[in-house]
Order: sequence, then C-alpha cells, then structure tokens
Amino acid sequence: MKNKYKILFLILIIVGTCAYVFYESKKIIIETKTEKIQINQKIYNTDIIKNLKNGKITTEKKLINTSKKGKQKIEIKIKNFFGKIEKHTFEIEIIDIEKPTIKYNKNIEITEGDEVDLLKDVTAEDNSKEKIKVTVKGNYDKNKPGTYELKYVAKDSSGNKAEENFTLTVKEKAKEEIKQGQNNNSNSAFKTSKGFTGTTKNGMTYIDGYLIANKTYTLPSSYNPGLSQEVRNAAEKMFSAAALEGISGMYIGSGFRSYSTQNTLYNNYVARDGKAAADTYSARPGHSEHQTGLAFDICVPGYACISSGFNNTPPANWLANNAHKYGFILRYPQNKTNETGYIYESWHFRYVGEDLANKLYNNGDWITMESYFGITSEYNY
Ligand code: DAL
Ligand code: ZN
Repeated sequence: MKNKYKILFLILIIVGTCAYVFYESKKIIIETKTEKIQINQKIYNTDIIKNLKNGKITTEKKLINTSKKGKQKIEIKIKNFFGKIEKHTFEIEIIDIEKPTIKYNKNIEITEGDEVDLLKDVTAEDNSKEKIKVTVKGNYDKNKPGTYELKYVAKDSSGNKAEENFTLTVKEKAKEEIKQGQNNNSNSAFKTSKGFTGTTKNGMTYIDGYLIANKTYTLPSSYNPGLSQEVRNAAEKMFSAAALEGISGMYIGSGFRSYSTQNTLYNNYVARDGKAAADTYSARPGHSEHQTGLAFDICVPGYACISSGFNNTPPANWLANNAHKYGFILRYPQNKTNETGYIYESWHFRYVGEDLANKLYNNGDWITMESYFGITSEYNY
C-alpha cells in the first residue's frame, strides 16, 4: 500500500514537471528593434517586433506617428500559444540627428557695386519638415573686386547643422579686354583627323556644328550667353526622371561661368595648387565649357558637390547611365585624360542633343568629343 502511494506521488511529480516545462517552453518570446526612430521615418507599429516566438500579433498594423520628437508608448497585442491575448507595451523615442540639406549655387557672380541677395536661390530641407532658415557666414565687399569664400549655414531645431561653401565673385566694372583665342581668330574651315568639318567663326570653333571649348579651342572673352534655355529644359526633364527613380533633389551646382569668373576661379586654383595641377581639373579662361552655356555641374543633396567624392555614388552612376537619354554627355570620363585634357569629372555634363549623346554613350563606355571628332585638347601656351 505504501509503495502504491509512493508511485502515485512520483507520477504526479513527473506529470507536473512535464506540464511546467511545456508551459514554460510555450511562453511568448519577443525581440524588439531599435527603439530610437528618426523623425518622420515611415515605420509601422508592428515593425518594432523583430522576432516573435510562440505568439501571433493581433494588433492591426498601422503607421506610427513619427512627426514629433520625444518618447511614445506603443501597445501591441499578442495571442499566446493557448489563445490568450497579452498586451505588451514598448517605449520608443523619436529623435532627429540628420542635418538639413542646402540647395545652393556654388559660384555666384556680380559686378562691383551691384546689390546681391545671397539667399535668393537658396533653400534648405530637413527630415523634420520644419522651416529651415539659411544664413551666410563670411565677409565680402560688393565694391571690391575679388573672389570671396563664403558659407551657407542651416540648422534644424535639434541643433543639427549643415554648412556648404560657395564663392562670390565680384567682377571689375571696367570693360574687359577682348581676348581672342589662339589659332582661331580668323574665319576659316578645316577638316579634322576623322573627316569632320570644322569652322571657325568670330573666334569660336564648331565641329560638325557643335561648339567646342577645350584646351585647343577657345571662346572669346566677350562670349557671354548664360545657360541656354534648351539646356535648362532638358536638365529639368532629367532631374525629374532621376527623382522618379529615387535620386531626388538634383540641381545645377555650377552652370554658366563667364570668362571673368573662370579667370578668377582658375587663378585661385593656381595660387592654391600650382599651375600644372590646376590645369588638370580647371580650364584656363576662354577654354571652359561652362562659358558655352551648354554645360553644367550637377549636385545632389547628401553627396559631395563638384568633387571626386561624388564619383561612383548612386547619383553619379545614374547620370552616367541615363544622361544621354536627355541629350547630355559625361564630358570628362574616367581614364580619358589624354583625350579631354582633364581628370574624371563625374558631375560635369554637356548638352549635345540626343543623337550625338546616344553615340558618345556607347553602351556606357563613354567616347569623348575629342576622340569622336578627331580633335586635340592641348594648350599651346
Ligand atoms: N572643370 C572644368 C574642366 C572647367 O573648369 O571648365
Ligand atoms: Zn564643370
């Protein structure tokens, strides 16, 4: 009899332990995702749960309101293995650590004495969606010709600060001396090594009808057309297409540059890096494609602007693969310095129209204007 009780007792213990172990193993296990969330980030309440075992979320999936900074409690209902609904509360914090992005023009030019509103074409955006004020840092004297290195500063209410450098060039009022280009100050026609017809008219050279500005072919200092409307329109189309493919905010960081702006820029680079180095990346005055009004440098918020830091970024890759569809060419491709005379510029695009752009695109292996037309790009002074 005694033994019978003992066995019964033992069975009870074993069954109890098994039940306990089973119950414990069916407890809900939850792992949560980062509790710090960027302001205005699109995130669902259920996204907070990264890993869930022995349970099923029964709370309806809905967007968390992330428009205000601060802590929030998120309640999620989870049905456990036995069908019971448990309420779990998680704390999240909406934070803002991203700095605003400033859209601006890298080179501004005025004539001495002119009033200038440096904030006219400047805008700033922030992930907080708040209105961001931009200020200018640095000094300049609109009555004193020269190039001034200034900064745009934008700050959001969380103290995240963006700074971007730009230059203000104050041009001399005195009439510029008209400097003619080399070899091309008489009107003439010639054939290139690839058989294209070149014509030189009023100091400008056209090959097969395309205006050329490089180290060989110059523009007169008086040529001052501004950025062409046709080019602006094509650029707008390209920027919209890029935005549809996820590269938003493309803008012209440096468009038309006059002879005198280029003169100041180039001389500043020579003073900084020496002439030999400056000649690899900056055109001498009268040689810059920016003076044709057909070329510009593209910037994209959040990426290096007009510098090698832009190379191989998603926007640079997008441009290299798509610009031709809008009539633009990557004017200074990689490893073509011996043809163009310049180092790789992933941000500099030149308008030539879709026909020629399609040919030069060459399935992504960009051909230079120099090689296609059979012309040089070399200084002879
Ligand atoms: N960076 C190009 C070559 C220019 O100065 O026009
Ligand atoms: Zn450029």
